[in-house]
Amino acid sequence: MAGTIDNMITAVINLVKTNGIASLIIIVIVIHGFTSKILAWVNKKDENRAQGGSTENNQEKITDDTNEHLLSHGGEDCDMVPYKQTTYSEDEMKKRSQSFYEDINHRRSVRFFSDKDVPIEVIENCIRTAGTSPSGAHMQPWTFVVIKQADIKAQIREIIEEEEEINYKKRMSETWKKDLKRLRTNWEKPYLETAPYLVLVFKQTHGLTEDGQKITHYYTEESVGLSCGLFLAAVQNAGLVTLTSTPMNAGPKIRMLLNRGSNEKLFLLLPVGYAADDCKVPDLKRKSLDEIMVLF
Ligand SMILES: Cc1cc2nc3c(=O)[nH]c(=O)nc-3n(C[C@H](O)[C@H](O)[C@H](O)COP(=O)(O)O)c2cc1C
Repeated sequence: MAGTIDNMITAVINLVKTNGIASLIIIVIVIHGFTSKILAWVNKKDENRAQGGSTENNQEKITDDTNEHLLSHGGEDCDMVPYKQTTYSEDEMKKRSQSFYEDINHRRSVRFFSDKDVPIEVIENCIRTAGTSPSGAHMQPWTFVVIKQADIKAQIREIIEEEEEINYKKRMSETWKKDLKRLRTNWEKPYLETAPYLVLVFKQTHGLTEDGQKITHYYTEESVGLSCGLFLAAVQNAGLVTLTSTPMNAGPKIRMLLNRGSNEKLFLLLPVGYAADDCKVPDLKRKSLDEIMVLF
């Protein structure tokens, strides 16, 4: 690397010696133009991402080409109110954080459900919890669709299994299938009918005013992801189980089935209920603190 830079400097000095100072000025202008173009491209990428542009893990490609017509939320005035934090002694904090970790560490993705019913109030409270999530510019770009009706669950299962069979047989790479092998997953998903509830989380790429005008949403992917994380924690806290699932290529059909607008994309499907009595989970190990934390 140092050798390359030395060579470049020598080349520039030789160029200036033979062609005069004008050649140096031209080189500086060219380099400046080039770096400005790169910086502008990086900034544009960040801005697109903040405004819900597509990122790698979208299940349904976002082809919202109307961004330039989107409205701001209107900058509604908002009072400032005092915030009173709940605090604990250091000992209490240690106890609470340890106990919360132990609870959450017990969470597993469950693929074998009991059909035992769960009061809807518990699901509502878990969704209320998810709704406390932070979101880009407080746009709250999520919709939680809860399915209890057996016939709708059956239709969702049919759509997903049909797509998943093609995913496994044709669309997924060999590496992906190899990585999934230890989880023993395939396209058959009886839990979609056994679990008492299916919670389908939709990401709103933009909002809508009452007269149908589009409102800009920001960082939708991050916001909905955080909201789902809180939902998972709430489900665990209630003593129930769920499975984080991403039914690849089934999003558009499910969106139509559930009459969701074209601004809503299926983000996650979360069956919720009790684990089956004979439920088994893969014996996965989680990374240790040393592997996931860096302290400066
Ligand atoms: C974004 C995301 C998508 C996932 N999609 C699926 C899925 O479609 N089907 C499935 O069976 N599990 C899915 N999982 C669950 C993972 O396989 C599971 O979280 C992982 O194996 C770790 O297991 P644990 O959740 O029990 O700790 C998904 C998890 C995440 C975070």
